[in-house]
Amino acid sequence: MAVGVFDSGLGGLTVLDALTKRLPDKGFVYFGDNAHAPYGVRTADDIFNLTCAATERLWDEGCDLVILACNTASAAALKRMQETWVPPEKRVLGVFVPLIEALTERQWGDNSPPREVAVKHVALFATPATVASRAFQRELAFRAIGVDVEAQPCGGVVDAIEQGDDILAEALIRSHVEALKRRMPHPQAAVLGCTHYPLMEKVFQDALGAGVKVYSQADLVAESLADYLTRRPQFLGAGTQSKFLTTGDPAGVSNKAIQILRRKVVFEAA
Ligand code: DGL
Repeated sequence: MAVGVFDSGLGGLTVLDALTKRLPDKGFVYFGDNAHAPYGVRTADDIFNLTCAATERLWDEGCDLVILACNTASAAALKRMQETWVPPEKRVLGVFVPLIEALTERQWGDNSPPREVAVKHVALFATPATVASRAFQRELAFRAIGVDVEAQPCGGVVDAIEQGDDILAEALIRSHVEALKRRMPHPQAAVLGCTHYPLMEKVFQDALGAGVKVYSQADLVAESLADYLTRRPQFLGAGTQSKFLTTGDPAGVSNKAIQILRRKVVFEAA
């Protein structure tokens, strides 16, 4: 048994990389739904159905705990999954809350009432489905007051990254940052609310300017999983067997994954 890590495609590897560094003795089974990426332009029902199917596949691998290393699934499907679908002996966790806790200077799991925090102007970059869900603003409102969030749907970026077209991804990111800056000229912080975006973090930082603190999720999610497993060790089995599954073309996905992780990984057909 191991912990399951799910994403619509390659982006969740940014989270997996941080997880394996933070928890080197744990096994992780990665599931990339590359055949159906990008999720960010799909309906909420579609994202729910695809995410449930992938999660069931990870349960079949013995992963009682599955991390949705995908903001789109975390935003559009997780609440419904937890409320209507996940059985009591399993857990499915998202990637939003650790990030929002960091942004609002909270300890993990601190559920005290919302309060004023240092950061006042936040730029959120995410997929169209994540932005449309307003899940980020909802989770933020539970923890902080007086924070102005300007969200930019970054159409096309995930597709370009999945295709390996970094030139297109960079051009799109620069135009999305410009569009956001027209509405919020001086953000204090920027949230990369899609696990694909850390692969282009330098471009975001460059377009935003050095004065903007850029938050990305991988290390925050890794810290919060380490904390979770200390409190709930029953959700981790004894095994350490790691594997990589994809609904896409295993050879093509493995090649792209090697570039991201800078180590050999072999994807199998899911
Ligand atoms: N990595 C996913 C996320 O964090 C990408 C979603 C997509 O496939 O559009 O949102």
